[in-house]
Amino acid sequence: MNNIHIAVIVGSLRRDSLNRQLANAIAKLAPPEFSVKQVEIGDLPLYNQDDDANPSAAVTRLKGEIAAAHGLLFVTAEYNRSIPGVLKNAIDHASRPYGHSAWAGKPAGVIGVSVGAAGTSMAQQHLRNILAYLDVPVLGQPEAFIQAKDGLFDQDGAIGAGSKVFMQTWINTYANWVKHHAVS
Ligand SMILES: Cc1cc2nc3c(=O)[nH]c(=O)nc-3n(C[C@H](O)[C@H](O)[C@H](O)COP(=O)(O)O)c2cc1C
Repeated sequence: MNNIHIAVIVGSLRRDSLNRQLANAIAKLAPPEFSVKQVEIGDLPLYNQDDDANPSAAVTRLKGEIAAAHGLLFVTAEYNRSIPGVLKNAIDHASRPYGHSAWAGKPAGVIGVSVGAAGTSMAQQHLRNILAYLDVPVLGQPEAFIQAKDGLFDQDGAIGAGSKVFMQTWINTYANWVKHHAVS
């Protein structure tokens, strides 16, 4: 497979989101055959099952982008020891109507950065539970629980020197995982 599309779902809407910065920085480390694109989740309505028959344009767009992707990359904040509601909302939207989930079978990576020392570990574990139910195979190792510290990003927004080897190893392993599991 030569042109591998990755849909990146960032679990934070904050303007200066660390997780969005991480998603941008990771994209720069991806192998050249990967095209990595963030999907918009901030304009989705709150999920309401009544709307399944008539989804909004934002929902249709989200489902189309997930369906077109070979792989998924979740880069999420941790809110109160779980995933942010905006991320769960997006996941719920693209999982419905029943039997028409856009997620099933898409290989995924899960990563995140937080200000806390546990580095989104609880959010990631909750997300893994959800993705297991949605039949999304998730890269197991290496795990990446990142605490925000000075130097995580350099002046250009790339991964800083202290974390570069780790992050390059992570993205290389993730890329191989996607190649192995992606259905073309
Ligand atoms: C509602 C809320 C709940 C939070 N809960 C946690 C938490 O459980 N664990 C943690 O490490 N940080 C927590 N934080 C702090 C986040 O790690 C921090 O705000 C981080 O910058 C969020 O990611 P972002 O920069 O991508 O928006 C919380 C922040 C908010 C706003």
